[in-house]
Amino acid sequence: MPALVLLGAQWGDEGKGKATDLLGGSVDYVVRYQGGNNAGHTVVVGDQKYALHLLPSGILSPGCTPVIGNGVVVDPAVLLSELSGLNERGVDTSKLLLSGNAHLITPYHTTVDKVTERFLGKRKIGTTGRGIGPTYADKINRVGIRVQDLYDESILEQKVEAALDFKNQILAKLYNRRAIESGKIVEELLTYAEQIKPYVADTTLILNNAIDEGKVVLFEGGQGTLLDVDHGTYPFVTSSNPTAGGACTGAGVGPTKINRVIGILKAYTTRVGAGPFPTELFDKDGEALRTIGGERGVTTGRDRRCGWFDAVIARYATRVNGLTDFFLTKLDVLTGWEQIPVCVAYEIDGKRVEELPYSQSDFHHAKPIYEMLPGWSEDITKAKTFADLPKNAQAYVKALEEMSGAPISAIGVGPGRTETIEINSFLS
Ligand code: IMP
Repeated sequence: MPALVLLGAQWGDEGKGKATDLLGGSVDYVVRYQGGNNAGHTVVVGDQKYALHLLPSGILSPGCTPVIGNGVVVDPAVLLSELSGLNERGVDTSKLLLSGNAHLITPYHTTVDKVTERFLGKRKIGTTGRGIGPTYADKINRVGIRVQDLYDESILEQKVEAALDFKNQILAKLYNRRAIESGKIVEELLTYAEQIKPYVADTTLILNNAIDEGKVVLFEGGQGTLLDVDHGTYPFVTSSNPTAGGACTGAGVGPTKINRVIGILKAYTTRVGAGPFPTELFDKDGEALRTIGGERGVTTGRDRRCGWFDAVIARYATRVNGLTDFFLTKLDVLTGWEQIPVCVAYEIDGKRVEELPYSQSDFHHAKPIYEMLPGWSEDITKAKTFADLPKNAQAYVKALEEMSGAPISAIGVGPGRTETIEINSFLS
């Protein structure tokens, strides 16, 4: 099983760290293929807890090579500070590989992200303010700065100048901000160049060779399917492709090389930032999910919006990612409800709709149609096998599996690393 993709099936924060934990020491390479330090995952190793934003989780496994692919946007200051934070705690980070084609987030991208959001007012996206969108915009506009540009000072100067020429007009004339001096930006970027150099590599060549040699390569998606710029709830999305196809373009690996695509699916639903969310709860149940589930963002510290499980979304994630399996997380959070509502379809303008509507207006009007499933009250955190789960919890999992269109191969039953029921191995 050489290459597998692991991605969020909802709006992110599904608990991907748990799945990476389960794969543990068997993975040779962990690759991030999109996003930047807008992501956030907590990885627990022994009694140590690590919050990572940019680095792939594989950085914590001694036998594993962590890779930042070409599709990622990299804030060099954040990269170096995450690395030194880990080094101070005794983690060896020397194996990290960084694509020379990855784009750099510079201080002007973060500035533009923040001023744009302020300008949008109540129409804002609720971005993480980390400069992600403006950096991808520059990439597509062909005025981006790549990691490799750090090693040719004259090219770097020309590129920063070209990017700022236009941006300064907007900053000054539209947003009433001071223009940014290109010389200062170049100077700052050059201070990172030598420190980053040991990691820079031709990552697509290395990864393709690794797959050909039968090594296990894990592509780790940030955010989630519904935050995908093409397949998510546009415009309330991130600016990259967390969906499975993004692993190919964001790492330079062909689709024929990928054998398994695992969707991480929370047993209920959450989202951060603005945008439609049909099963969102505004009552004490929503508050309970937030409190019991610890639903607060690792990157932004913002409370997550919470709601019941939405099978329409899960089916959609199966479709647009070609999912082979699901990893169902946080089932234990639902312990204690007498009945658990699950959204099985939507009502849109009086009609029952089974599939996620492609039209933004329809999705905004979608009302959840719920089916009530019986709950359980027993503690499930000690369950080791599917049979250890109470009958109603088993039935809940089976119902979700049936509605979602792919087998549930693992279930998270508690926050600890080992509190997972493995049904089918992801590596078989
Ligand atoms: P951006 O990625 O900072 O541009 O933010 C765009 C949208 O994606 C906002 O709604 C963010 O809250 C959301 N977002 C970005 N990263 C994450 C994540 O890791 N988990 C959940 N939501 C995210």
